[in-house]
Amino acid sequence: MVYASKATFKPFQANASIDQEILDILTTARRENQKNNLVGALYYGHGCFFQCLEGKQADIDELYAKLQKDSRHHDLKILSLQPIEERRFSSWEMKYATIDREVRTFLRTHQMAKFDPYRFTPEMTAELVDMLQQVDETPVDGAAKPVHQEMHRGVSLTVFWLTNVISIIATAAITLWITQA
Ligand SMILES: Cc1cc2nc3c(=O)[nH]c(=O)nc-3n(C[C@H](O)[C@H](O)[C@H](O)COP(=O)(O)O)c2cc1C
Repeated sequence: MVYASKATFKPFQANASIDQEILDILTTARRENQKNNLVGALYYGHGCFFQCLEGKQADIDELYAKLQKDSRHHDLKILSLQPIEERRFSSWEMKYATIDREVRTFLRTHQMAKFDPYRFTPEMTAELVDMLQQVDETPVDGAAKPVHQEMHRGVSLTVFWLTNVISIIATAAITLWITQA
């Protein structure tokens, strides 16, 4: 199932790479989907959600009933509901990808001024699901990756300066040796 909905919360929070509301939704979705054997992907743009859910029909119906009662979004519209042979998001309890740049290109191709999934054709819905499947997931556990990257950068800088100092000393030693010889 793929559906669209409108967020009821403000779309932007200064100094936050990801809205706290989205983080909360993802945390619940991932925990609950694992319990309920559901998988899927979520995109959020221009105040709208676009979510793909895969699993048994009964489990999806049960979740959809909960989603309809969730006050964090409204105006839910099913864009696609079809049987599938195999799961496309089997490795993700709820994949989240901030593919804003790709979506801008996609919208331009379809002559759409803003992200409005309510006006998507079935082909556009399928195309966006394809994109969500292909892209890398956006890490949302803020601390993990930057810390690693910082460490990596620190090590690279140390190696860079060490190499410089060693080559200066070596050049000086060789020059001294030649001039004294
Ligand atoms: C945009 C959006 C997507 C959500 N996706 C899921 C989901 O994939 N799985 C899930 O269990 N809950 C999801 N939720 C949260 C549910 O609406 C609900 O809060 C949650 O399932 C817990 O419900 P319960 O306390 O009645 O069991 C989502 C909520 C929103 C607003």
